[in-house]
Amino acid sequence: MDYKGHKRIVSVSSGKGGVGKTTFAVNYALTLAQYGPTILVDLDTGTSSIRNVINAEVNKDLYHFFKRNQTMGECLSRLPEKWDPDGRYRNFAFVAGPQHFIDEIANLTHANKKRLIQAINGLNARFVVLDLKAGLDSNVIDFLPISNSGILVFTPHLPAATMAASDIVKAILFRKLRIIFHPKSPLYEFIGGGGQHARLINTLIDSVEDNYDTTVPNLDAFLVDLSHALGEQPLVEIIQNIVEYFHVYYVLNMFNGVSQSYEKAIQPFVANLVDNISQRINIVNLGWIVESPEINRANSQRIPAVVHHRERRPPDKVGDELKRLHNLYLGLKTEKPRKAAIPHQYTQSNPDFVLDKQLTALHHMSEDLQGHNFRDNFEYIVHRSLYLIQGRRVQDFGDSRLFTPEEFVELVYSKAVSKA
Ligand SMILES: Nc1ncnc2c1ncn2[C@@H]1O[C@H](COP(=O)(O)OP(=O)(O)OP(=O)(O)O)[C@@H](O)[C@H]1O
Ligand SMILES: [Mg+2]
Repeated sequence: MDYKGHKRIVSVSSGKGGVGKTTFAVNYALTLAQYGPTILVDLDTGTSSIRNVINAEVNKDLYHFFKRNQTMGECLSRLPEKWDPDGRYRNFAFVAGPQHFIDEIANLTHANKKRLIQAINGLNARFVVLDLKAGLDSNVIDFLPISNSGILVFTPHLPAATMAASDIVKAILFRKLRIIFHPKSPLYEFIGGGGQHARLINTLIDSVEDNYDTTVPNLDAFLVDLSHALGEQPLVEIIQNIVEYFHVYYVLNMFNGVSQSYEKAIQPFVANLVDNISQRINIVNLGWIVESPEINRANSQRIPAVVHHRERRPPDKVGDELKRLHNLYLGLKTEKPRKAAIPHQYTQSNPDFVLDKQLTALHHMSEDLQGHNFRDNFEYIVHRSLYLIQGRRVQDFGDSRLFTPEEFVELVYSKAVSKA
């Protein structure tokens, strides 16, 4: 079957290291594979992170892709048969990073990055999951979707990591704004104002992006300033749309109860997004993975936890059980952006409304998930992901392809121009 037309690429990132990205990505991809062919790609290309937790035979890896001219399809590895006697994971494959550190693969050159992006786009699978490295450089940002966050992972055990996760959102949004409003953007030809608009907008973007400059604290304030300066303008609407359609998805790893997670992770995460970016973006908790010594043990034995603790239940039955949960699709239903008029005056952002929503969701999930183990947690998150994949616009969750930096510029310009 040819999946190229309806593939979905979902990136897993965190900003900071050690929060469980790889653990999440591996077990999430394995769980997804029960619902369609799934390829997990190790993009933490300096540390061979996936092969550290999957002790499978790897004949070819990204070394062969980059240095031996193999296609990515030729570099797929699979689980050992003995781990999967009933073929539950026969639709799962992974692309391993090189076994040893190789500078030009760990720190991708422009040409290598382009090749990698094109190869990922060429993979034939229903789902592609990307395990990204920690940090926030272009080796991470260029593999994230453009109009949503992909899946961000953080944990109440590492409160500092929640800031890094919200910084990823900021990085995606500002990269997009920078490109659209680049002084040489063809956009200005369509809306007039040329150099003058470009200067004004870029000065404003500078001060929003600069956390130490408090004159324009976030994009909500930016929109107010802009509508003052330009009046009713397609430009203002373009930015409003970018923000209001943006979806942020997160997973809490090493979950240790509602109150800890709320106080140590969700609250700072949401407050940072609202204060520094906007109260207009949509923030969705996809679920959590409990803290479990079995996960840790499975990792050290290099057998993925969901495989290690295989269940006897057939997979479709697991799905049916989940569907009986009251709140399975909580917060995922298609909601049209609020499209509230831009206020005349910027009033300091108030995260209460957004936080209330997150807390309510957390309580409802916790009612549903009482007594569930990590395996159920993965099923739950996969179910919610499938719901998003089936029911929402492609750009709302992951994306059907990655864009090289050049294609990205072209894409956002053409979209912006068509709106103008
Ligand atoms: N839910 C969990 N319960 C218990 N231990 C966990 C859980 N998730 C991850 N761990 C442990 O936390 C450690 C870090 O996990 P992992 O390597 O997946 O993080 P990472 O974010 O990919 O790190 P890096 O930034 O180095 O790539 C590992 O020892 C792993 O076994
Ligand atoms: Mg990792």
